[in-house]
Amino acid sequence: MPSTPSEIRARILNEWTAAAQGWRAWEPHIIAFTWPMTQAIVTGLQLREGHRVLDVGCGIGDPTIGLALAVGATGRVVATDPTEEMIAAARSRAASFRLSNVDFHVTPIDDADFPDASFDAVAGRWSFIFCVDIASQLARAHRWLKPGGRIAVGTWTPQEHSPGFEAINSALNRVADIPPLSSTKPGRLQLADPGQLESALSRAGFCGVKVAPVPLSILASDGDQFWRMMTEMGGSLHAVVSGLTPEQRRQVREETIAAVEPFRDGSILRIPALAQIGTGTRS
Ligand SMILES: C[S@@+](CC[C@H](N)C(=O)[O-])C[C@H]1O[C@@H](n2cnc3c(N)ncnc32)[C@H](O)[C@@H]1O
Repeated sequence: MPSTPSEIRARILNEWTAAAQGWRAWEPHIIAFTWPMTQAIVTGLQLREGHRVLDVGCGIGDPTIGLALAVGATGRVVATDPTEEMIAAARSRAASFRLSNVDFHVTPIDDADFPDASFDAVAGRWSFIFCVDIASQLARAHRWLKPGGRIAVGTWTPQEHSPGFEAINSALNRVADIPPLSSTKPGRLQLADPGQLESALSRAGFCGVKVAPVPLSILASDGDQFWRMMTEMGGSLHAVVSGLTPEQRRQVREETIAAVEPFRDGSILRIPALAQIGTGTRS
Protein backbone atom coordinates (compact mmCIF):
# COMPACT_ATOMS: atom_id res chain seq x y z
CA MET A 1 0.00 0.00 0.00
CA PRO A 2 1.48 3.43 -0.91
CA SER A 3 2.61 5.51 2.07
CA THR A 4 0.98 8.83 2.88
CA PRO A 5 3.14 11.99 2.99
CA SER A 6 3.00 11.97 6.79
CA GLU A 7 4.12 8.31 6.91
CA ILE A 8 7.02 9.09 4.55
CA ARG A 9 8.00 12.07 6.69
CA ALA A 10 7.89 9.99 9.89
CA ARG A 11 10.01 7.27 8.26
CA ILE A 12 12.64 9.80 7.13
CA LEU A 13 12.80 11.44 10.56
CA ASN A 14 13.21 8.01 12.20
CA GLU A 15 15.99 7.13 9.78
CA TRP A 16 17.91 10.31 10.61
CA THR A 17 17.39 9.79 14.34
CA ALA A 18 18.90 6.30 13.96
CA ALA A 19 21.83 7.66 11.90
CA ALA A 20 22.70 10.53 14.28
CA GLN A 21 25.05 8.44 16.40
CA GLY A 22 26.97 7.50 13.24
CA TRP A 23 27.29 11.18 12.30
CA ARG A 24 28.80 11.88 15.73
CA ALA A 25 31.21 8.97 15.41
CA TRP A 26 32.40 9.91 11.90
CA GLU A 27 32.65 13.69 12.45
CA PRO A 28 36.30 14.07 11.29
CA HIS A 29 35.58 12.13 8.09
CA ILE A 30 32.41 14.13 7.41
CA ILE A 31 34.28 17.41 7.70
CA ALA A 32 37.13 16.19 5.48
CA PHE A 33 34.67 14.88 2.89
CA THR A 34 32.32 17.87 2.79
CA TRP A 35 34.51 20.96 3.18
CA PRO A 36 34.34 22.02 -0.52
CA MET A 37 30.55 22.14 -0.16
CA THR A 38 30.78 24.26 3.00
CA GLN A 39 33.11 26.59 1.14
CA ALA A 40 30.77 26.78 -1.89
CA ILE A 41 27.80 27.57 0.36
CA VAL A 42 29.55 30.27 2.39
CA THR A 43 30.89 31.88 -0.79
CA GLY A 44 27.63 31.48 -2.71
CA LEU A 45 25.64 33.23 0.01
CA GLN A 46 27.88 36.33 -0.26
CA LEU A 47 27.81 36.72 3.52
CA ARG A 48 28.90 39.81 5.39
CA GLU A 49 29.55 40.57 9.07
CA GLY A 50 26.26 41.11 10.84
CA HIS A 51 24.15 38.98 8.50
CA ARG A 52 21.35 36.78 9.87
CA VAL A 53 21.37 33.28 8.35
CA LEU A 54 19.08 30.24 8.53
CA ASP A 55 20.73 26.80 8.24
CA VAL A 56 18.08 24.21 7.40
CA GLY A 57 18.73 20.61 8.52
CA CYS A 58 22.10 21.45 10.08
CA GLY A 59 22.95 17.89 11.18
CA ILE A 60 25.99 17.97 13.46
CA GLY A 61 26.67 21.62 12.63
CA ASP A 62 27.71 22.03 9.04
CA PRO A 63 27.66 24.37 7.33
CA THR A 64 26.42 26.13 10.51
CA ILE A 65 29.89 26.69 11.94
CA GLY A 66 31.30 28.09 8.70
CA LEU A 67 28.29 30.39 8.42
CA ALA A 68 28.68 31.58 12.04
CA LEU A 69 32.37 32.37 11.44
CA ALA A 70 31.50 34.28 8.25
CA VAL A 71 28.84 36.54 9.85
CA GLY A 72 30.95 37.28 12.95
CA ALA A 73 29.90 38.20 16.45
CA THR A 74 27.41 40.81 15.23
CA GLY A 75 25.69 38.29 12.97
CA ARG A 76 23.46 35.36 13.91
CA VAL A 77 22.81 31.85 12.61
CA VAL A 78 19.56 30.03 13.30
CA ALA A 79 20.30 26.32 12.85
CA THR A 80 17.46 23.78 12.72
CA ASP A 81 17.32 20.01 12.54
CA PRO A 82 14.54 17.58 13.46
CA THR A 83 16.96 15.24 15.26
CA GLU A 84 17.70 16.00 18.88
CA GLU A 85 20.99 14.10 18.85
CA MET A 86 22.27 15.89 15.72
CA ILE A 87 21.52 19.22 17.39
CA ALA A 88 23.26 18.10 20.61
CA ALA A 89 26.42 17.34 18.57
CA ALA A 90 26.12 20.63 16.68
CA ARG A 91 25.81 22.54 19.97
CA SER A 92 28.96 20.90 21.40
CA ARG A 93 30.90 21.64 18.23
CA ALA A 94 29.80 25.31 18.19
CA ALA A 95 30.74 25.61 21.87
CA SER A 96 34.17 24.13 21.18
CA PHE A 97 34.78 26.98 18.71
CA ARG A 98 33.48 29.46 21.35
CA LEU A 99 30.71 30.53 19.01
CA SER A 100 27.91 32.34 20.77
CA ASN A 101 26.10 33.57 17.67
CA VAL A 102 24.16 30.38 16.86
CA ASP A 103 20.60 29.53 17.99
CA PHE A 104 19.70 25.86 17.63
CA HIS A 105 16.15 24.54 17.21
CA VAL A 106 15.02 20.92 17.09
CA THR A 107 12.39 20.96 14.35
CA PRO A 108 11.73 19.73 10.83
CA ILE A 109 11.73 22.79 8.59
CA ASP A 110 8.14 21.94 7.58
CA ASP A 111 7.03 22.70 11.16
CA ALA A 112 9.14 25.85 11.61
CA ASP A 113 8.02 29.34 10.75
CA PHE A 114 9.77 32.68 10.72
CA PRO A 115 8.61 36.22 10.04
CA ASP A 116 8.72 37.30 6.42
CA ALA A 117 11.97 38.98 5.35
CA SER A 118 13.82 37.98 8.54
CA PHE A 119 17.03 36.47 7.05
CA ASP A 120 19.82 37.69 4.79
CA ALA A 121 20.60 34.14 3.72
CA VAL A 122 19.26 30.57 3.85
CA ALA A 123 21.49 27.49 3.57
CA GLY A 124 20.38 23.89 3.18
CA ARG A 125 23.14 21.35 2.63
CA TRP A 126 21.59 17.98 1.66
CA SER A 127 18.58 18.73 3.87
CA PHE A 128 15.76 20.21 1.76
CA ILE A 129 16.06 17.00 -0.30
CA PHE A 130 14.53 15.04 2.59
CA CYS A 131 11.39 17.22 2.66
CA VAL A 132 8.21 15.60 1.43
CA ASP A 133 7.08 18.82 -0.27
CA ILE A 134 10.35 20.46 -1.26
CA ALA A 135 8.63 22.99 -3.54
CA SER A 136 6.66 24.50 -0.71
CA GLN A 137 9.69 24.51 1.65
CA LEU A 138 11.74 26.42 -0.93
CA ALA A 139 8.87 28.87 -1.43
CA ARG A 140 8.67 29.42 2.35
CA ALA A 141 12.45 29.99 2.49
CA HIS A 142 12.02 32.60 -0.25
CA ARG A 143 9.45 34.40 1.88
CA TRP A 144 11.74 34.36 4.96
CA LEU A 145 14.48 36.15 3.02
CA LYS A 146 14.86 39.90 2.85
CA PRO A 147 14.78 41.37 -0.67
CA GLY A 148 18.28 40.77 -2.06
CA GLY A 149 18.75 37.82 0.33
CA ARG A 150 20.49 34.70 -0.97
CA ILE A 151 19.78 30.97 -0.83
CA ALA A 152 22.27 28.10 -1.29
CA VAL A 153 20.88 24.58 -1.61
CA GLY A 154 23.12 21.53 -1.80
CA THR A 155 21.94 18.33 -3.51
CA TRP A 156 23.61 15.31 -5.09
CA THR A 157 23.96 14.63 -8.82
CA PRO A 158 22.91 11.34 -10.50
CA GLN A 159 24.41 8.40 -8.67
CA GLU A 160 26.69 7.32 -11.54
CA HIS A 161 28.87 10.36 -10.70
CA SER A 162 29.47 9.04 -7.16
CA PRO A 163 30.99 5.56 -7.55
CA GLY A 164 31.12 4.83 -3.82
CA PHE A 165 27.34 5.31 -3.47
CA GLU A 166 26.86 3.41 -6.71
CA ALA A 167 28.97 0.50 -5.41
CA ILE A 168 26.83 0.04 -2.28
CA ASN A 169 23.56 0.42 -4.14
CA SER A 170 24.50 -2.03 -6.91
CA ALA A 171 25.65 -4.59 -4.34
CA LEU A 172 22.40 -4.12 -2.37
CA ASN A 173 20.28 -4.55 -5.48
CA ARG A 174 21.97 -7.88 -6.20
CA VAL A 175 20.81 -9.35 -2.87
CA ALA A 176 17.53 -7.63 -2.08
CA ASP A 177 14.56 -5.91 -3.63
CA ILE A 178 15.32 -2.32 -2.61
CA PRO A 179 12.97 0.44 -3.77
CA PRO A 180 15.09 2.63 -6.08
CA LEU A 181 15.98 6.16 -4.97
CA SER A 182 14.19 8.74 -7.10
CA SER A 183 15.03 12.29 -8.15
CA THR A 184 11.38 13.23 -7.63
CA LYS A 185 10.88 11.73 -4.17
CA PRO A 186 12.28 12.75 -0.78
CA GLY A 187 15.67 11.17 -0.29
CA ARG A 188 19.32 11.41 -1.26
CA LEU A 189 18.66 11.78 -4.99
CA GLN A 190 15.81 14.31 -4.88
CA LEU A 191 16.60 17.12 -7.39
CA ALA A 192 19.72 15.26 -8.57
CA ASP A 193 18.84 15.14 -12.27
CA PRO A 194 20.13 17.85 -14.63
CA GLY A 195 17.94 20.98 -14.59
CA GLN A 196 15.82 19.98 -11.57
CA LEU A 197 17.53 22.13 -8.93
CA GLU A 198 17.60 25.15 -11.20
CA SER A 199 13.91 24.91 -12.02
CA ALA A 200 12.91 24.20 -8.38
CA LEU A 201 14.67 27.38 -7.24
CA SER A 202 13.21 29.43 -10.11
CA ARG A 203 9.70 28.12 -9.40
CA ALA A 204 10.12 29.08 -5.73
CA GLY A 205 10.62 32.68 -6.91
CA PHE A 206 14.41 33.03 -6.87
CA CYS A 207 16.14 35.02 -9.58
CA GLY A 208 19.69 34.80 -10.93
CA VAL A 209 19.62 31.06 -10.23
CA LYS A 210 22.91 29.24 -10.85
CA VAL A 211 23.76 25.59 -10.32
CA ALA A 212 27.39 24.45 -10.10
CA PRO A 213 28.94 21.01 -9.58
CA VAL A 214 30.95 20.46 -6.40
CA PRO A 215 33.44 17.55 -6.68
CA LEU A 216 34.14 15.83 -3.36
CA SER A 217 36.36 12.98 -2.15
CA ILE A 218 35.26 10.48 0.46
CA LEU A 219 38.40 9.57 2.40
CA ALA A 220 38.75 6.19 4.07
CA SER A 221 41.71 4.12 5.22
CA ASP A 222 40.25 1.04 3.47
CA GLY A 223 37.05 -0.43 2.08
CA ASP A 224 35.92 -1.71 5.46
CA GLN A 225 36.13 1.77 6.94
CA PHE A 226 34.21 3.15 3.94
CA TRP A 227 31.51 0.49 4.44
CA ARG A 228 31.17 1.19 8.16
CA MET A 229 31.06 4.94 7.63
CA MET A 230 28.42 4.80 4.91
CA THR A 231 26.17 2.27 6.63
CA GLU A 232 26.36 4.03 10.00
CA MET A 233 25.72 7.50 8.53
CA GLY A 234 23.30 6.97 5.66
CA GLY A 235 19.73 7.66 6.80
CA SER A 236 17.88 5.15 4.62
CA LEU A 237 20.96 2.97 4.00
CA HIS A 238 21.36 2.33 7.72
CA ALA A 239 17.74 1.09 7.82
CA VAL A 240 18.06 -1.05 4.67
CA VAL A 241 21.30 -2.72 5.78
CA SER A 242 19.88 -3.42 9.24
CA GLY A 243 17.07 -5.36 7.54
CA LEU A 244 19.41 -7.73 5.64
CA THR A 245 20.23 -11.25 6.76
CA PRO A 246 23.82 -11.75 8.03
CA GLU A 247 24.68 -13.58 4.79
CA GLN A 248 23.24 -10.77 2.61
CA ARG A 249 25.11 -8.18 4.68
CA ARG A 250 28.38 -10.10 4.30
CA GLN A 251 27.93 -10.27 0.51
CA VAL A 252 27.04 -6.56 0.12
CA ARG A 253 29.93 -5.54 2.36
CA GLU A 254 32.47 -7.67 0.46
CA GLU A 255 31.28 -6.47 -2.96
CA THR A 256 31.37 -2.84 -1.82
CA ILE A 257 34.89 -3.20 -0.42
CA ALA A 258 36.10 -4.73 -3.71
CA ALA A 259 34.40 -2.02 -5.81
CA VAL A 260 36.06 0.90 -4.00
CA GLU A 261 39.60 -0.53 -3.89
CA PRO A 262 40.47 0.94 -7.35
CA PHE A 263 40.25 4.38 -5.69
CA ARG A 264 43.30 3.69 -3.56
CA ASP A 265 45.72 6.62 -3.44
CA GLY A 266 48.73 5.42 -1.46
CA SER A 267 47.70 4.66 2.10
CA ILE A 268 44.09 5.87 1.73
CA LEU A 269 41.07 5.51 -0.51
CA ARG A 270 39.97 8.75 -2.17
CA ILE A 271 36.52 7.93 -3.53
CA PRO A 272 34.95 10.60 -5.75
CA ALA A 273 31.43 11.92 -5.25
CA LEU A 274 29.71 14.71 -7.14
CA ALA A 275 27.40 17.14 -5.35
CA GLN A 276 25.93 20.37 -6.69
CA ILE A 277 24.98 23.73 -5.25
CA GLY A 278 22.12 25.90 -6.42
CA THR A 279 22.12 29.58 -5.53
CA GLY A 280 19.64 32.37 -6.13
CA THR A 281 18.44 35.73 -4.88
CA ARG A 282 15.14 37.01 -3.60
CA SER A 283 14.39 40.04 -5.76
C1 LIG B 1 22.55 14.36 4.92
S1 LIG B 1 22.19 15.10 6.48
C2 LIG B 1 22.93 16.73 6.20
C3 LIG B 1 23.27 17.44 7.48
C4 LIG B 1 24.05 18.75 7.31
N1 LIG B 1 23.26 19.76 6.62
C5 LIG B 1 25.33 18.50 6.57
O1 LIG B 1 25.42 18.84 5.38
O2 LIG B 1 26.28 17.94 7.17
C6 LIG B 1 20.46 15.45 6.32
C7 LIG B 1 19.89 16.21 7.49
O3 LIG B 1 18.58 16.65 7.14
C8 LIG B 1 17.78 16.54 8.28
N2 LIG B 1 16.36 16.50 7.86
C9 LIG B 1 15.62 15.43 7.50
N3 LIG B 1 14.34 15.82 7.25
C10 LIG B 1 14.30 17.15 7.46
C11 LIG B 1 13.25 18.13 7.42
N4 LIG B 1 12.00 17.81 7.07
N5 LIG B 1 13.56 19.42 7.73
C12 LIG B 1 14.83 19.75 8.08
N6 LIG B 1 15.84 18.88 8.13
C13 LIG B 1 15.58 17.60 7.84
C14 LIG B 1 18.27 15.27 8.98
O4 LIG B 1 17.91 15.20 10.34
C15 LIG B 1 19.77 15.36 8.74
O5 LIG B 1 20.44 15.98 9.81
